[in-house]
Amino acid sequence: MAIEKVMVIGAGQMGAGIAQVCAQSGFKVLLNDVNKEALDKGMKNIEKLLARAVEKERISESDKTDAINRLTPSTEIKDAGSCDLVIEAIVENMDVKTKVFSDLDAFAPKHAILASNTSSLPITEIAAATKRPEQVIGMHFMNPVPVMKLVEIIRGIQTSDETYQIIEEMAKKLSKAPVEVNDAPGFAANRILMPMINEAIFAVHEGVSSVEDVDTVMKLGMNHPMGPLTLADFIGLDTCLYIMEVLYEGFADSKYRPCPLLRKYVKAGWLGKKSGRGFYQYS
Ligand code: CAA
Ligand code: NAD
Repeated sequence: MAIEKVMVIGAGQMGAGIAQVCAQSGFKVLLNDVNKEALDKGMKNIEKLLARAVEKERISESDKTDAINRLTPSTEIKDAGSCDLVIEAIVENMDVKTKVFSDLDAFAPKHAILASNTSSLPITEIAAATKRPEQVIGMHFMNPVPVMKLVEIIRGIQTSDETYQIIEEMAKKLSKAPVEVNDAPGFAANRILMPMINEAIFAVHEGVSSVEDVDTVMKLGMNHPMGPLTLADFIGLDTCLYIMEVLYEGFADSKYRPCPLLRKYVKAGWLGKKSGRGFYQYS
């Protein structure tokens, strides 16, 4: 099965990035969001990043125009009817994702593959919301998508070898490096990264050090490109909390207990960069 047209569901930071990379790699792309404002913002961000890539002479003006011409905004999930692959990148919540997968199953053509960019949720459970679990798979991109090379590919218990091979090939066509990981909570990336971020939040919560100093320790002491609290703000504190909850429940192990300070910030609506305030203030 040849993939020609892709639908990306969710035009937030991940969905917009995935749509951009697909369009730049020659695929026709529908970028879908239930929220028209979020969709417009996602489309604008893509144009801004493509314009910057032209400025930096990484792509030509015609590459930019071609990529934009391959992109179409959508607010209707039934538009999935014309696509060979759907990549879902909406909120990290099982109930919301399974509802979308059940709708996608109804609207997408029989041959279409349904992929989730979930950071941590079981692919097997998402797949069970459809009548085509053999064509459901995890395709976990890293943020920022246009820059980061890794894609974790996760098979659910019923995912077919053919689906795996098509998605591995697709990741390579997007110039990404695919790595196969098992369907365990947080897969590999977030099982390792998120407890480190959570521990950094505990260090601040318990007064071990300040936000800035914790970040400095990891940047200058470990050569991380961003400190863990800057990274948490960049990922989104709501997403960090959802992932910690999946680890905590999935392993039933107190070592994954989300830091109360993380919960408090999310309850306050301090979601990091995307909401203007997290561990740092953004204006
Ligand atoms: N979107 C697209 N491109 C971006 C970008 C964004 N949000 N932010 C930066 N870039 C690009 C810039 O355009 C720049 O490219 P050019 O030089 O060609 O213009 C390049 O990245 C470097 O950017 P900067 O010089 O501005 O800044 P930097 O050197 O500090 O790099 C960074 C920025 C790549 C984001 C770097 O700080 C970094 O690697 N941070 C860590 C990112 C990380 O850990 N990501 C994984 C998050 S976890 C995850 O994704 C999984 C999950 O499920 C939560
Ligand atoms: P985000 O909050 O930036 O964007 C989510 C978007 O989904 C919003 O625009 C929202 O309007 C839209 N949406 C919500 N419900 C929808 C629906 N039913 N139909 C269509 N659109 C809907 O979130 P994000 O950071 O882009 O994360 C999206 C997914 O990607 C999550 O599963 C997250 O765990 C995963 N992920 C996030 C990161 C990260 O660093 N933020 C990295 C890798 C994977």
